[in-house]
Amino acid sequence: MKHNIIFTLFAAYVLSSCASSNKSTIDAKLDHKVDSVLKLMTLDEKIGQMVLYTSDWDITGPTLKSDYLDDIRKGNCGNIFNAHTAAYTRKLQKIAVEESRLGIPLLFGYDVIHGHKTIFPISLGESASWDIAAIEKSARVSAIEAAASGINWTFAPMCDISVEPRWGRVSEGAGEDPYLGSKIAAARVHGFQGNDLADSLTILSCVKHFAAYGAPLAGRDYNTVDMSQRVFLDIYLPPYKAAIDAGAMSVMTSFNEYDGVPATGSKYLLTDLLRDQLGFKGFVVTDYTSINEIVNHGVVSNEADAGLMAIKAGVDMDMQGEVYFKYLKKQVEDGEIPQKTINDAVKRILRVKFMLGLFDDPYKYCNEAREKRLIYAPEHLEAALDVAKKSMVLLKNDSNVLPLKKGEKIAIIGELATSTRDLLGSWKAAGDWDFMKSTLDELKTYNGEANVLFAEGCKKFGEDRSGFAAAIAVANRADKIVMVIGEDWEWSGEAASRTSINIPGVQTELLEKLKALNKPIVLVLMNGRPLDLSKENELADAILETWYAGTMGGKAITQVLFGEYNPSGKLTMTFPRNLGQVPIFYYEKNTGRPLYLENPKYKSRYIDSPNDPLFPFGFGLSYTTFAYSDIKLSTNELTEKGEIKASVNVTNTGGVAGEEVVQCYVRDLVGSVTRPVKQLKGFEKIALKAGESKVITFTIKPEMLAFHRLDMSYGTEPGDFKLFIGGNSRDVKEVGFKL
Ligand code: NOJ
Repeated sequence: MKHNIIFTLFAAYVLSSCASSNKSTIDAKLDHKVDSVLKLMTLDEKIGQMVLYTSDWDITGPTLKSDYLDDIRKGNCGNIFNAHTAAYTRKLQKIAVEESRLGIPLLFGYDVIHGHKTIFPISLGESASWDIAAIEKSARVSAIEAAASGINWTFAPMCDISVEPRWGRVSEGAGEDPYLGSKIAAARVHGFQGNDLADSLTILSCVKHFAAYGAPLAGRDYNTVDMSQRVFLDIYLPPYKAAIDAGAMSVMTSFNEYDGVPATGSKYLLTDLLRDQLGFKGFVVTDYTSINEIVNHGVVSNEADAGLMAIKAGVDMDMQGEVYFKYLKKQVEDGEIPQKTINDAVKRILRVKFMLGLFDDPYKYCNEAREKRLIYAPEHLEAALDVAKKSMVLLKNDSNVLPLKKGEKIAIIGELATSTRDLLGSWKAAGDWDFMKSTLDELKTYNGEANVLFAEGCKKFGEDRSGFAAAIAVANRADKIVMVIGEDWEWSGEAASRTSINIPGVQTELLEKLKALNKPIVLVLMNGRPLDLSKENELADAILETWYAGTMGGKAITQVLFGEYNPSGKLTMTFPRNLGQVPIFYYEKNTGRPLYLENPKYKSRYIDSPNDPLFPFGFGLSYTTFAYSDIKLSTNELTEKGEIKASVNVTNTGGVAGEEVVQCYVRDLVGSVTRPVKQLKGFEKIALKAGESKVITFTIKPEMLAFHRLDMSYGTEPGDFKLFIGGNSRDVKEVGFKL
């Protein structure tokens, strides 16, 4: 092995660095190490560290580069994404470490969003579990498998709040709520990074997409975002902040503009807010070619100026754009960019490489034996099954059609029942659909071949009705019909916006035909966004939302359908009655003409639809029922330094054990600016045996009531509040208190 400059240098530093546990001493030593490397670097090599190219192993954007191996060798590219497996990343790392002049190790990034090989439910599905520990575990398992496959950096968590079901990327987020979104964002960062980035089972996380990417106009991906700063700071910012507070050491910019400035060139977002106010200490990477796209946004006329704008805004690393590679050197030489700006960016990147321990052992993630042992480890599959079950939301269950009983003859209808690829959803990373079993196969295994009849009936999209007759014939022979319908996996995720949020194709038409048979119908939904289910809700007796449930999805669906697991998921995005209601979310404002006042004319309403959604935020049924007592407050006066304990008694009033997500909301009745009609402030997921009761207590503190006031200062305002507790955002008990 060629022994290059960096490795000789490091041996000495590593030995001297381990002794102290004091954080500031460790930081100083880290800075010292970084500086010592920086001193050895030419300007070209520095710019090389600011470059990230995709390999050709996966395609996640519009451009590819064929000569990335040579770029690594020449020191022109310090980071690679979309490359994986211990063997392939070792090969690339070897080029960086042994063939480039300084031997600085590469970062290997990948979109490990909801699993690497063992795939968990899509992120929106995971969020519906409201189980923070399970979500953290999912990120942990994802990190362990990714790290075993040579990855040391995931482009997750996505922290974009969204109230826009047309936007396909809602599937990647945690829904519409800032409070829940923040808890989930922090859990995912902890899961990926653990307590120690240097641990070879943890990977660097990347908070994305900074910022406000979840609000594209009309739900069209990459479209303009236009929102007030107040809404941005109070609603959209909290999950990013929570992820940064949880220790995420990289942040990805977003494709959209914010207040007229492309986010990738926004000094307000990337320096004033992110670094100066939020105290972010890691590095900032662009999204795919988003520096180049600043030209299309129309605030500069060429790529060189786009690069200048990005570096001045605070972008440290250029993903795939080649803008930094092409223009930065000359701009530094011409004095347009101070050397210090480049040095600071490179230091931030090297610092993270040190924190990951890559200088100690650049091959620490490239261990094939470990890869073999950890990929699809039984405990990973078990964790994926657990989260998949917890993520499912029972939307309807008339006459207790569910759970199915073993031995019942069931007719399974729908192409999605046979699909394994769809179960993985978008961003399936290295997930392998040949490895898994379909929902149909799992149902057959569980209920016996003879009791499970199948006909495809129709495809998940398209107009072909030729399978209808066979499906009706099969359904006629069964006790119950289980129709698996929804969207193709490619209909959500990036670049997958829709102008309709109906079930595609002729699936609902077939459902109408099946309804005429007068047999109980269960719908199993697979989809990546809130859908308009108004029609289906009238036709089906039971509806189970399963999202795209991952590697173990088929088994999880089967266990839920048969009641081996009692569903406990709750929606984290409102499901509208129709597309016309979009955007619709539970934390709306009251308006000057709210509908609940007498006489609906001249009120804020539709003449052709109710205002309320089909299924509200926080909603989800169980095979049992829960009753809530009235709320008891420890006091109804909250003082500046005090707290209120708000308690309810929750009872399982049904016949089986179940889990309930007890939710606590607050409304500030009068503010210097208008306030939402409800805001989630706490939740607890509890398990209750049949007949069992538990007292659940939420602690309300003044800081939980803070917001950006009229003068944009952040804080509370005294006055009257309402507190609500219930099993969803609509059906709640309420009580008043004062601050
Ligand atoms: C573009 C996507 O917006 C981003 O989320 C992803 O991480 C990158 N491509 C890399 O694949």
